[in-house]
Amino acid sequence: ARRTLTSYTTRNMPSQQVFNTKDGATYTTSNGAPVQEPYAAGRVGTFGPLAIQDFHHIDLLSHFDRERIPERVVHAKGAGAHGYFEVTHDVTDICMADLFSKVGNKANLTMRFSTVGGESGSADTARDPRGFAIKLRTQQGNWDWVFNNTPVFFIRDPAKFPHFIHTQKRDPQTHLKDVDMFWDYLSQNPESAHQVLILFSDRGTPDGFAHQHGYSGHTYKWVNAKGEFVYVQIHVIADKGFKTLNNEQAGQLAGDNPDYGTQELFEMIEKGDYPSWTVSVQTMTAEQAEKFRYSVLDLTKIWPHSDYPLRPVGKIVLNENPQNYFAEIEQVAFSPSHMVPGAEPSADPVLQSRLYSYPDTHRHRLGTNYQQLPVNAPVCPVANFQRDGAMAFNNQGSRPNYQSSIQPLTYKKSAYTTASHEQFLGASILDLSFMTELDWEQPRALYQKVMNDKERAATIHNLSVHMKNIKSKVVLERQLSVWAAIDQSLADGISKTLGVPTVAPMKVAPASAALRYQAYAGKSAKG
Ligand code: HEM
Repeated sequence: ARRTLTSYTTRNMPSQQVFNTKDGATYTTSNGAPVQEPYAAGRVGTFGPLAIQDFHHIDLLSHFDRERIPERVVHAKGAGAHGYFEVTHDVTDICMADLFSKVGNKANLTMRFSTVGGESGSADTARDPRGFAIKLRTQQGNWDWVFNNTPVFFIRDPAKFPHFIHTQKRDPQTHLKDVDMFWDYLSQNPESAHQVLILFSDRGTPDGFAHQHGYSGHTYKWVNAKGEFVYVQIHVIADKGFKTLNNEQAGQLAGDNPDYGTQELFEMIEKGDYPSWTVSVQTMTAEQAEKFRYSVLDLTKIWPHSDYPLRPVGKIVLNENPQNYFAEIEQVAFSPSHMVPGAEPSADPVLQSRLYSYPDTHRHRLGTNYQQLPVNAPVCPVANFQRDGAMAFNNQGSRPNYQSSIQPLTYKKSAYTTASHEQFLGASILDLSFMTELDWEQPRALYQKVMNDKERAATIHNLSVHMKNIKSKVVLERQLSVWAAIDQSLADGISKTLGVPTVAPMKVAPASAALRYQAYAGKSAKG
């Protein structure tokens, strides 16, 4: 039966009307000419070599030879769907984004969930953070929220990212994943401990994609129509509730049904059981940020909800499966730098680095004109001076390709004139990863206060079954000293399971040695 066309496909992919039919279209070559017989190949005589003049045959094989594009260097395995964002609360006092101008406004969106380290065919239930990426198609351009399912991250120095990721990938010689590499990196870079503790609790193995939350992790800035900003952390909380698998269930599913999450998401949407999320923000002024115990630019920290409560903004519903996985999910290109007026990056160096990295990888993975691919193309008009390049589907017709006085482009002025709220005070190179006692506080609170006895026992179990494979005594002891610094009983629980001696806490500098964050006077919303 022919599927009904939906908002996504009609708006973005008019030509899909042809592709979506399952009613026996006429077989053609890529230039649209009908082909009489799909398997025949032109040849010289009955038993002779093949003829190069058979375009159908060459067309078929040469396209097949080029089917693969590079998979994402991280987050290669994923699943996605389309849906909408709806504004449920007025936030115009903190954000001038066109999307938020009225309660009830809706934007069409595409979401992709992923695991991070594994290849495109790897298991959905791997112990790994989950990517949680959202492309909001607003009337003022696409606004991408490229989030994870954890509120913190492993690093706060962006140059560590390739090192860290390489230790999750395969050993250059054996081509095997390597537990020593993994823990060698983490134990040398203990600012990762907060994220690693979350990862090795049962939260590290969410049950499918619909029962998990998403977090911006980074601090972003939202700007109102007066040009005043607040820092925000965005939380996307699952309406279906939070569900996890235990280590053994996740391991078994990895073998029995590696596509567990992908299948569940598709089937849920097919039967109308639409996954949805409630979007809220925590906000902080620059003045509050100066007094905050941690740096707002430190991605390894959360903002306590007791001090910075959640303020509701909107909801997300996923109600449409892709018709074509490759065109609508594999080719979707998210970037934290795809922003709209009303949103700005903070100076978090990891975020700053990501602003560059994503469009760079898209140009490599999808090509210069990746923004013109149907799934990435904005729903509002695009007019600029970019022209040509491979696959320039929309090359802006006869519009001048320079700023012409005869037919100029017009400019939409912002309500405020500052391009950005940063104030750059001079160059510096800093070791942002420098560890102090402050860095143990949040993972310690997570372990001692947030987790219950059952969750603590699961965490010790999950860590023990993984760490038992470490071959290097130095690496094992160093990572145990990280756990001991967070809570001695956590380290001792693992030591006992592994039958190794207990280890003393890792020593780091006192809290007073931490780099203090300084905001910029007079620029924030309520200051
Ligand atoms: C994917 C780089 C940190 C969330 C990617 C990709 C790259 C990348 C190159 C592949 C994109 C593609 O091929 O389409 C980096 C760098 C980071 C960093 C350099 C730090 C310096 C983070 C953080 C988060 C995050 C902190 C979340 C808060 C994601 C997500 C995807 C992704 C969700 C998958 C997007 C999709 O579904 O297509 N990252 N990443 N990354 N990253 Fe990061």
